[in-house]
Amino acid sequence: MKHIVVLTGAGMSAESGIATFRDSGGLWEQHAIEDVATPEGFQRNPQLVLDFYNERRKAAFGAKPNKGHIGLAEMESDYKISIITQNVDNLHERAGSTNVIHLHGELNKVRSTADPSLIYTLTSDKPEINIGDKCEKGSQLRPHIVWFGEAVPMIEKAAEITQQADILVVIGTSLNVYPAAGLINYTKQNTPIYLIDPKEVKTNIKSIHFIQKGASEGVEELREILKLKYS
Ligand code: APR
Repeated sequence: MKHIVVLTGAGMSAESGIATFRDSGGLWEQHAIEDVATPEGFQRNPQLVLDFYNERRKAAFGAKPNKGHIGLAEMESDYKISIITQNVDNLHERAGSTNVIHLHGELNKVRSTADPSLIYTLTSDKPEINIGDKCEKGSQLRPHIVWFGEAVPMIEKAAEITQQADILVVIGTSLNVYPAAGLINYTKQNTPIYLIDPKEVKTNIKSIHFIQKGASEGVEELREILKLKYS
């Protein structure tokens, strides 16, 4: 079975109604990154940060996987699929994908500020955490999200997996944020790379197969191309 590694970003969830970051009207037009997505911002105004993630968590709980998520899950019957996502929603898992790495954390999880190994899962009936919500050791809970300036614990594992790819597929990411964006340089020589995005994405890789479509239609077209090529 061919091993396909899929690197996804916010555009993967756009058709599920979840805002991207850098498109017009995106999240970083409405909020200053340093206020809501850095440890300093959390120190300065923890409730503002908790509110930001509470809103995004409720939106994510209310969203549904789109045909792109579902198509990737269905591909598991014909290929070994490893998903490396920058997204913090769990739409890949809810679509049925069984092998998902979250580089930037997970919205539905929160963790202790004193002991990062204490991680708790929130559900749609209790989607919020606020000041005063504490872990079993009595310290404030925080979103289980990798903020700017924090380490990306899963990046080594993600690089290892990318090196094993027979095919790399990149969907819905502007490739603006490192180290995630650097993963496309980890493929073995001559590994085919497909990029699905409605807009041109700047990348230093020359021989990319560009599918200029949204995630749903793009995954469908990719499946056709791969069927012709590898069946
Ligand atoms: N289908 C596929 N791609 C889409 C769609 C769609 N329907 N709509 C938009 N896109 C594309 C955009 O053209 C853009 O290239 O998705 C990409 C979204 O880029 P960003 O908003 O920069 O999101 P992302 O690349 O995931 O950001 C990376 O930055 O702020 C941090 O931690 C955050 O994980 C995030 C990281």
